[in-house]
Formats: sequence, structure tokens, C-alpha cells
Amino acid sequence: MGFFIVPIMVRKVIGLLGSPLIDGNTAKLLERALQGVRDAGCDTETVVVANLDFQACMEMMFCKEHDTCIMDDDMQPMYGKFMSMDSLILATPIMTMGIPGKLKSFMDRFQVYFMAKYVRKTPFFSKEQKKMRKGLFICIAGMNIPDVFTGAKRTVQAFFDIIDCQYWDELLINDMDTIQNVSVHPELLDKAYAKGFALGEFLNKT
Ligand SMILES: Cc1cc2nc3c(=O)[nH]c(=O)nc-3n(C[C@H](O)[C@H](O)[C@H](O)COP(=O)(O)O)c2cc1C
Repeated sequence: MGFFIVPIMVRKVIGLLGSPLIDGNTAKLLERALQGVRDAGCDTETVVVANLDFQACMEMMFCKEHDTCIMDDDMQPMYGKFMSMDSLILATPIMTMGIPGKLKSFMDRFQVYFMAKYVRKTPFFSKEQKKMRKGLFICIAGMNIPDVFTGAKRTVQAFFDIIDCQYWDELLINDMDTIQNVSVHPELLDKAYAKGFALGEFLNKT
């Protein structure tokens, strides 16, 4: 009697860090969420926007007719990477009442996906993939004022839509100027972990 080897597809989650600090509070929350994902049995990869060498979109419009961007920089491997992932955790601090500029430029370069989806109407993802692809948004702000997350959230919702990730859940923490260090607030790290774990569990069931 022979054996059949059934390939097990391990789900993959990308953690996208928008903070320039690779060991700051945002990074710590993201890492805890990714630990939750891993503990649920999925693979993770962290993409640090600050470590990438790329320019902002220059509206050369190459992507209007092609499945990529003509600008040859560190964004090139991102297009394939974001196609093959199963879900995304995006973590960022608030800067000037929105997301950091480099993270925004990263998102703008996904005009490649926008053109395919909305202009040429030849999206990169099947219905099956869309059922899988979720986005978890982790965001922290120094201030404790109303609407501090409003601008960032609108931008992230648009980005998730463009890359075909459903806005699945969020962890928004304000008043970081008072909190200072998340490491001494295990309850905040635990929240990030729980949301990551829930995402990983969902992916394994789907
Ligand atoms: C350039 C800059 C701009 C900021 N602008 C805001 C802001 O408009 N509103 C706010 O609530 N916090 C603002 N902050 C505070 C950060 O959101 C806060 O310090 C956060 O904890 C930083 O996270 P990180 O250390 O993980 O990068 C700003 C911080 C910087 C460095």
C-alpha cells in the first residue's frame, strides 16, 4: 500500500511596519500580533517600510497598461509578495494626524493594483483568494484627542480595498505620550496578540 502525501498549505501573513523605529511601540505591538499569527499555525514575514529604498509615485502611468511599475526600485518585489500573502497586518504610528509619509508613498505605489482592478478590470485575485485576504490595522497615537485616527483609517481602508484585503479588525491605541512604553503594559500587547491569533485561526479554517 502506498502513501499519499497531502500538501499542507501554510497560510502566510505579512506584517507591514510603518514606523521608522524598528524597536518602537508600533513595532512591539506588530511583533506580538505576528506571534499570535504564528501560534495559530501560520507563517509570517515582516516588511519594514523604512528599510526600503524607493521613490514616491511619479504618475508615469506605466501601470495603466502593465501589471507592474516602470520605476525600478525596492517596490518591485513588493508587488509579488503582496499577491502571494493570505492576509496583512499593517502597523503604524500617527504622524501629523495621518500615516507617516513613507508609508503613504508605499501605498501610492500600489497604483499597479488599482489600475488592474478598477481601470482594466482584470483584478489580480480570484473570488476564493478574496474570501481569504483580510487586513488588521494596528495604529497608535501620541495624543488623546477626538478623530486622531480618522485620516489614517480612511487611507488604510482605501489601501486594503486596492490590494483586495477586507478590513477585518483594528487595534487603535491613543494617548501614547502618557503610556510611553507598551512593554510595561502587557494588557496592550495581549490585545495585539489576541487579534493576531484570531486572524491566524480564521486563515486556518478558511
Ligand atoms: C513626526 C511625528 C509626528 C507626530 N504627529 C502626531 C500627531 O499628529 N498626532 C498624534 O497623536 N501623535 C503624533 N505623533 C506621536 C506618535 O504617534 C507617537 O509618539 C507614537 O507612539 C510613535 O510610535 P513609534 O515609536 O512606534 O514610532 C507624532 C510623532 C512624530 C515623530
